[in-house]
Amino acid sequence: MRMGNPILYQKAKPVTNFNTPELNQLIADMWETMETLGGVGIAAPQVGESLQLAVFGFEKSPRYGHANAVPKTVLINPKIESLSDEMYDDWEGCMSIRIIRGLVPRYKKIRYSGYNEKGEFFQHEVEGFHAKMVQHEYDHLIGRLFPSRIKDMQYLGFEEELADIAKKVGTRLP
Ligand code: NI
Repeated sequence: MRMGNPILYQKAKPVTNFNTPELNQLIADMWETMETLGGVGIAAPQVGESLQLAVFGFEKSPRYGHANAVPKTVLINPKIESLSDEMYDDWEGCMSIRIIRGLVPRYKKIRYSGYNEKGEFFQHEVEGFHAKMVQHEYDHLIGRLFPSRIKDMQYLGFEEELADIAKKVGTRLP
């Protein structure tokens, strides 16, 4: 589903049944879609299911060459909280808005918790790219896409047009 599809602007419903064939199949399909499109994370609404479920993680991403690896994670019914007020801006893309990038402010350090596909609870404290990914995926589950987080719309554009603006703000395009 791409930007403009109403499912991307809905608050997703919590998952209530874990470790079912349907849920496991959906998760397998999401990993496959993510890998086919060369992304690093995907949320269920992006494949047409309004559920609080996202998968993300990679060892090395050609799309985000400078980013450290993030463990492959299935995140269901998540909660997040910032651990400080400190924010930082970095470029983001999204499989629902392909070839567009935007400079998005995110909390630098967060704690997030949720459940895996078996219904086991977990909690992590993370920072940097990992924290940014979780905030991006969480936004999908509350019906928000990254352009709505951008403070100055000149920092939203097509990848191949953004080099000069990236230089101006001193950030590296992914
Ligand atoms: Ni996205």
